[in-house]
This record gives sequence, C-alpha cells and structure tokens, in this order.
Amino acid sequence: MKILLTGAAGFIGFHLAKKFLKEKIQVYAIDNLNNYYDVRIKKQRIKILKRLAKENKTLFKFYKFDISKKENFKKFDKIKLNTIVNLAAQAGVRYSLINPHSYIDSNILGFLNILELARKKRKTTLIYASTSSVYGGSTDIPFNERNNAVHPLQLYAATKRSNELMAHSYSYLYGINTIGLRFFTVYGPWSRPDMSLYTFAKNIMQNKPIKIFNNGDHIRDFTYVDDIVFSIFRLTKISKFREYKIEKTIKTSDPSSSSAPFEVYNIGNDRPTKLMYYINLIEKGLGKKAKKKYLSFQKGDIKNTHANVKKLIKKIKYKPSTSIELGVKSFCEWFLDHYKKFK
Ligand SMILES: NC(=O)c1ccc[n+]([C@@H]2O[C@H](COP(=O)([O-])OP(=O)(O)OC[C@H]3O[C@@H](n4cnc5c(N)ncnc54)[C@H](O)[C@@H]3O)[C@@H](O)[C@H]2O)c1
Repeated sequence: MKILLTGAAGFIGFHLAKKFLKEKIQVYAIDNLNNYYDVRIKKQRIKILKRLAKENKTLFKFYKFDISKKENFKKFDKIKLNTIVNLAAQAGVRYSLINPHSYIDSNILGFLNILELARKKRKTTLIYASTSSVYGGSTDIPFNERNNAVHPLQLYAATKRSNELMAHSYSYLYGINTIGLRFFTVYGPWSRPDMSLYTFAKNIMQNKPIKIFNNGDHIRDFTYVDDIVFSIFRLTKISKFREYKIEKTIKTSDPSSSSAPFEVYNIGNDRPTKLMYYINLIEKGLGKKAKKKYLSFQKGDIKNTHANVKKLIKKIKYKPSTSIELGVKSFCEWFLDHYKKFK
C-alpha cells in the first residue's frame, strides 16, 4: 500500500506517519518545513520517522516542498498511490487575522493542487483535514455535519469550508472519492507549540502568566491525537474507489454527503471539557500551579465546541479511547522531557 501524506512534519502528520510505518505502509511524505513554529520540532519529527522506517524496513520518502507550487507534483506522475492524505495547511485560528495570505496559499492554492493530483490518479481516495471551526458561532450544539456551516468566523475556517466545497466539485465532476474530516481541537505529545496546551505548559514552567480568554468561560471538545490516527487509518483501509456516473441532480439534502463519492465527518471526543478543568489537569500533570491572567473574549474565537460523532461511529465504529485526564497526563509527561531540550 502506498500513501502520499502532506504535512508529515506537522503534529498530526507525524503521528499518522508513525502508524503507517508501523503497519509497513509505504509513505511518500511532503512538508515545506515552514517557520510558523519552531522548525527544530518538525525536523526532529522527520528524523524519528526516517529511523522508524528503517527499523520497520519500509519506505519513507521525504520531499521538502510547498504544495502551493503545482510544478512540485510532477514527481508523482509515475507513482501509483492508494490514498492521498492532505494535512498540510496553514493552521491556527488567531494567526489568520495576522497573516491571511498564508492561508490562501497553503489552504486554497495548495488544496487545488492536491485535488488536481487526485484527479490525475483518479482511483485514489483523498482524505483531507477540515476543522470544527467551520461551524463558526453556531449554537446548534452538538455540531452535526448536516449543519450548513456557512458562517465561518475567520479566514482559517473559510478556507477549510472552501476545501470541502472544492472537494465536492471534484467528486461530482471526476468521481474522485473525497473524505473531509472536521477535527475538534487535537492534542497529545508533540503538539503544536502555538496551541493552548503547549503555551499554557510553557508559561507555567517559565513562571509566566497564562492568558485565559473570555474569563475561562469556554468549552472544548478535545480529541486525543491517537483517535484521529485510528480514524484516518481505518478510513484508508476501508475506502474503495467506486464507479460513479455523473448525475444531473444531487439526491440529498445533507451537505456532508452527496450521490457523488463525497463525505464529511466530525472527529471529536464527544465529551466537552470546561477550559478551567483542563487547566487544572495541566497543573496536575506538570506538578505546578499557573499564574492566571483573565481576559475578555477574543475576536474570531469560538466559545463552545462539541462534536456529534454518530456518522463516524456508523462508518468505522469510531470510539474515542483516551479520556481528557489520561490524554493531558501523557502530554505533560512528554512536555516535561521535551521542554528540557527545546526551551
Ligand atoms: N491540531 C488541531 O487541533 C487541528 C484542528 C482542526 C484542524 N486541524 C488541521 O489538521 C491539519 C494538521 O494540523 P496540525 O495541528 O498537525 O498542524 P501543523 O502545523 O503541525 O502541521 C501542518 C504541517 O503542514 C506543513 N505545511 C503548511 N503549509 C504547507 C505548504 N504550503 N506546503 C507543504 N507543507 C506545508 C507545515 O510545515 C506543518 O508541518 C491541518 O490541516 C490543520 O488545519 C488541526
């Protein structure tokens, strides 16, 4: 089995690549190693993956390039790929207010190039990362894929929702099997340094105050990274190309599926956690109290998230396996070790 994985040096991509390599799946990995956050972490992840491939006697071929440049994809003309997993993107909600262009380059242009690659390969399944942020400020909680999700609150969410719409057009026109996954705040060891878990832990260790927006009145559906890996792995195993004849009408009112081979799924934990409880768990895990700075609601932020995961349960028997207590504990253990090397 051959997989093309973009964003392999990233937090989720790293964990997913590890799983593929352990299962002896050949991985063609792409990442531009950009400096959105400490590049040393990305390089370290790639080093580990190369070592793992050697140990498991399987292929891990790493390409350092930007997915927004279409000429970079010529290399794959002659490689038969079973699945393309696109995780490369400009992530981060708040940063989209600061550097909007990087979201259009990576998430829109880059995604178009991925769709074009899938179109060339045709019988390949394309699995790509979307986000819970597409639900915007919807109060229709828990978030259900049937929600039209047409009111994104920042450009990040707008680009990810656009990916789903772009994917539908390619599924409809060319019969490409596309699966969009709306991740709900993913966390775990090797987490992104710009995410709250990491910044909280870092500030606590450095005796700096942690910023708590909306006075801590947030609820998040936190998803442990292994549950994401399990889901993508299962989907790569069970997804098969099916012949699809273009239809003049779309026989569904469900915006997350269509008669074309197109699906969108939520992946969450289905057990939303209060932000203050989460902070409490981090303090416990690090064995240190945080200095707390309470602030007002931030523009573009989403107050509460909660995933309805029934659709994914039906498809792959999804069952979140890690509680927030255990998940934060394992992050803290990793962080304390990592922090010594990267501070
Ligand atoms: N972590 C979460 O909580 C979360 C939540 C919702 C959605 N997502 C989505 O999941 C995916 C993975 O997220 P992550 O947390 O691992 O982020 P990450 O930033 O750690 O990983 C993304 C990787 O993509 C690479 N990349 C970015 N632009 C690129 C480009 N133009 N060409 C090639 N490589 C590029 C980056 O260098 C990085 O290594 C992203 O699409 C993100 O939007 C993540």
